[in-house]
Amino acid sequence: MDLTLKVWRQPNGSTKGKMEDYQVSGIDGDMSFLEMMDILNEQLIEKGEDPVAFDHDCREGICGMCSMQINGEPHGPEKATTTCQLHMRKFKNGDTIYIEPFRANGFPVVKDLAVDRSSFDRIIQAGGYISVNTSGNTLDGNAIPVEKKNADMAFNAATCIGCGACVAACPNASAMLFTSAKVSQLALLPQGRVEASKRVQNMVHQMDLEGFGNCSNVGACAEECPKEISLENIARMNREYLSASISSE
Ligand code: SF4
Ligand code: FES
Repeated sequence: MDLTLKVWRQPNGSTKGKMEDYQVSGIDGDMSFLEMMDILNEQLIEKGEDPVAFDHDCREGICGMCSMQINGEPHGPEKATTTCQLHMRKFKNGDTIYIEPFRANGFPVVKDLAVDRSSFDRIIQAGGYISVNTSGNTLDGNAIPVEKKNADMAFNAATCIGCGACVAACPNASAMLFTSAKVSQLALLPQGRVEASKRVQNMVHQMDLEGFGNCSNVGACAEECPKEISLENIARMNREYLSASISSE
């Protein structure tokens, strides 16, 4: 395939960016989207030009680092798929592809397609953990019974890879789907109940401090999420938050 790429170039967060046109040729349908970007970068390096900066790590859909808006969609056109697992067979010879960074106040651009998602780390730091008694009386986690239904829902919530596509998809740049997945994976387990009230209040407070918008029930987050995190998590977080607010009054 021969393709035209329109790629967002921005040298740093304080300089204005713009779209630049590039041509790539000989792209195989079995290549991943990131391999196609590698070919573009090899071309740029050979010409002595600056390669396009983009985040990636595992390239197998688990680390959540790859974060590109492809033709207006976070992670591109394939449902439940990260950019690193998107194959070029999804595109046609002669296509023009628009490639931009995830856009949100909570994700400032570092360079080109790479954004700073440390706001997510700070939301986790605000409460995404449990305290364990390690004084010699530690209880084996496997000895605590967990209802199968709750274990499954907690596991599904825990599959969130923190990629930020939910924020990029939302017209309000809301981080509710991410935060609610991180609240739910603990709130559904007995080990997570000890600090449950404090956790939901602190994580929601940090989410607001980071500049993410409110949820207005659009649902684009769940639609674009590569791990198909359910909107039920947002409803659960709202219930947790309400009961925590009432009990702390
Ligand atoms: S909820 Fe989905 S889209 Fe949002 S950070 Fe987690 S995996 Fe990514
Ligand atoms: S590079 Fe790890 S999820 Fe895409």
